[in-house]
Amino acid sequence: MQSKITKKPSATITVNNKQLELPVYGGSVGPDVVDIRKLYAQTGVFTFDPGFTSTASCESQITYIDGDEGVLLYRGYPIDQLAEHSSFLEVCYLLANGELPNTAEYQRFAKDITYHTMLHAQFDRFFEGFRRDAHPMAIMVGTVGALAAFYHDSTDINDPVQRTIASHRLIAKMPTIAARAFKYSIGQPFVSPRNELDYASNFLRMCFAVPAEDYKVNPVLARAMDVFFILHADHEQNASTSTVRLAGSSGANPFACISSGIACLWGPAHGGANEAALNMLEEIGHVDNIPEFIRRVKDPNDDVRLMGFGHRVYKNYDPRAKAMQKLCHAVLKETGGLDNPTLKVAMELEKIALSDEYFVSRKLYPNIDFYSGITLRAMGFPTSMFTVLFAVARTVGWIAQWTEMMEDESQKIGRPRQVYTGAPKRDYVALDRR
Ligand code: CMC
Repeated sequence: MQSKITKKPSATITVNNKQLELPVYGGSVGPDVVDIRKLYAQTGVFTFDPGFTSTASCESQITYIDGDEGVLLYRGYPIDQLAEHSSFLEVCYLLANGELPNTAEYQRFAKDITYHTMLHAQFDRFFEGFRRDAHPMAIMVGTVGALAAFYHDSTDINDPVQRTIASHRLIAKMPTIAARAFKYSIGQPFVSPRNELDYASNFLRMCFAVPAEDYKVNPVLARAMDVFFILHADHEQNASTSTVRLAGSSGANPFACISSGIACLWGPAHGGANEAALNMLEEIGHVDNIPEFIRRVKDPNDDVRLMGFGHRVYKNYDPRAKAMQKLCHAVLKETGGLDNPTLKVAMELEKIALSDEYFVSRKLYPNIDFYSGITLRAMGFPTSMFTVLFAVARTVGWIAQWTEMMEDESQKIGRPRQVYTGAPKRDYVALDRR
């Protein structure tokens, strides 16, 4: 990656009576950064930023978020324009290569992805090792990491050609693995990918076709799946992406790195939130129960949170949530679920929360997960698959960020420091004297 950082007037800090001038850099948009890399060597202190609330961990040219304005750009293009006019595969090309493809580039890329969707036949035996009731995310973590054991010709991270092959394999095979995790959990036979179908249609077919019947892809649901994938494709240095970068910074192979991203995504504060949001809406059950639920959310002695609300970066309406809400209505209209009580609870809850002082003062707006659960449920997915679908979409973001890091010569192994508050040095005491 060619650095595009620009120099700005420096900053000065005083630590331990020592004054230090720190370089300041600017990007193309967004806040400037203070370069503290020499701080420890020159003053003997570390910075303290648990949760990285004020720390830029890398230079990146992929995705930009303005949390105060509610803006999300992939390579400069606003997410709402991509959701409206683009396709997931085109977005994959954009994220991975930096520019939208022309027709020839698109066709070559689409063919590359389509022709890598099958899995090694022996790979299928892997699924049998999991219990039938295993969470599909557990299956994803295990099987994606295991890809490294099957595709030895794409694990040399120093070879750009092998890196590209690994990237294409991951984008192509992830829907096949996800669909198998789903089929395995419901005891149905695996459905092989079909090369004549587009990415989203192929995925829906692998999830929902059964040998006893012909399966016809519903174009409204296929478009909804595609837009869901676009909306979740990347989100700059979030927890799972940072995990992928951290794992990759040690030189781990790309399949292992993406598997670590999937593990991180699983948590309810990150990708698991769509599952948690739908569970919450169903638990509330009826609009009459909302006031009591809101009371509990506001009670400092109760640890209930309004799932699908709030975001570390967005302090305004999450732009993905707006597109997701539109998608939700289109899917429910198509599946005849506009009277769905969960949707009614969601809409009422959103209305109340957007005018309630507690949420307004904390800038807690609906995030993408608030409406995605209802949408995915209406499409026929069980809640346990929601985070898996997020992982399928985010794979391209993870791999684009991993590739960018591999091409960045200034990147070092990730190694944060700490403020130690444990016991100071003390002598070992033998067991019989304790
Ligand atoms: N419901 C109720 N109160 C909340 C919520 C919520 N969802 N989120 C934050 N708060 C309150 C929190 O209690 C705190 O209040 P106070 O100042 O009185 O102590 C204040 O808002 C700040 O919260 P925080 O935990 O310091 O904020 P954070 O930036 O660390 O947390 C978050 C961000 C996403 C983890 C959090 O908002 C949350 O837990 N939301 C629910 C889970 C969720 O929907 N996650 C999906 C995120 S979007 C998908 C993705 O990009 O991965």
